[in-house]
Amino acid sequence: MVVPTKIKQLHAKQVAQYESDGILLLQHHFSADEIHVLSRAVQGELVGKSADDETAVRESGTHVVRSVYASHVAGQPVFKTLVALPKLAAIAAEILKDDVYVHQFKINMKAGYEGGVWPWHQDSAYWCTEDLMPTDNAVNFFIYLDTVDEFNGAPMFVPGSRAIPLKTTLVESKQRVPGGDAQEIEEDVSGFVATNLKYEISKADLSVAVAQHGLVLGRGKPGDVWLMHPSTYHASPANMSPFDRRVIIVSYNAVSNAPPSQGCRPWYLSSTDFTPVRVSTERTDILPTDIEPVADIEADMQSGTALLPPPVANGTASTGCAQTEEER
Ligand code: SIN
Ligand code: MN
Repeated sequence: MVVPTKIKQLHAKQVAQYESDGILLLQHHFSADEIHVLSRAVQGELVGKSADDETAVRESGTHVVRSVYASHVAGQPVFKTLVALPKLAAIAAEILKDDVYVHQFKINMKAGYEGGVWPWHQDSAYWCTEDLMPTDNAVNFFIYLDTVDEFNGAPMFVPGSRAIPLKTTLVESKQRVPGGDAQEIEEDVSGFVATNLKYEISKADLSVAVAQHGLVLGRGKPGDVWLMHPSTYHASPANMSPFDRRVIIVSYNAVSNAPPSQGCRPWYLSSTDFTPVRVSTERTDILPTDIEPVADIEADMQSGTALLPPPVANGTASTGCAQTEEER
């Protein structure tokens, strides 16, 4: 796709930096007013979800919400508007040199005191191996709703690690644990969404990469955005502070890089709708009118932490690839 010049968003120097480092910080990319609207919409996601909605994942052993997936199709309408804004979609198209579609959308809540770790990994391990993307020609936008720093679980990146071949870093993490049950994690989405991921980067590979490239802490203010190439080594520690660390992550894929056949993961982790995003030319920003004043949202915002009622106990969520006896 040819991105109209008037909505090109990055300078050549920024593109070059992204190409070499695989990460790029865009400060003040969203205004305080826009972040206020998006924050209310995030709270609306929690208010609106039923207790057993599979798109809301909880921190292990708690009712605290860890992530909400696919809100751009199944949630507050403002998130659909968000993914079409030129300051995300046109940049993605510019970087990927193609039309783009949303491969994955998630809100990572990393609630104060409760938010768990994201172990060291590359997104492309999942996207190419599980979701069957032919290449890693995709890009993530981390949109910060809160101040994100060393206290509340800022992500860490290894700059330049996008160039490290994927095959040297792919580790079936469960198999590394004596007695770990690889079969169990095959049949369960937890290896994609929880604190114990299916593919992690080994300590040996991480040490080599960090010795060569160093580490960057992804600090930021509300409204800042980090771009991250999906082969970048990244992780984030638990949030032991009282401060929530809410980040919306929009992952775009090039239309020409869409999987040729369907992988094993559920729709909310790996979209099967490859319709190109129509980059909005009229609308450049989120507006206060993008969300209705909802009494429930206002009330719930007072309560702080991202809580949902307990899920209905009806067995383990399935990837749809391998069914257990009970599911058949
Ligand atoms: C991710 O790697 O997908 C999440 C990282 C984070 O929220 O810190
Ligand atoms: Mn990731």
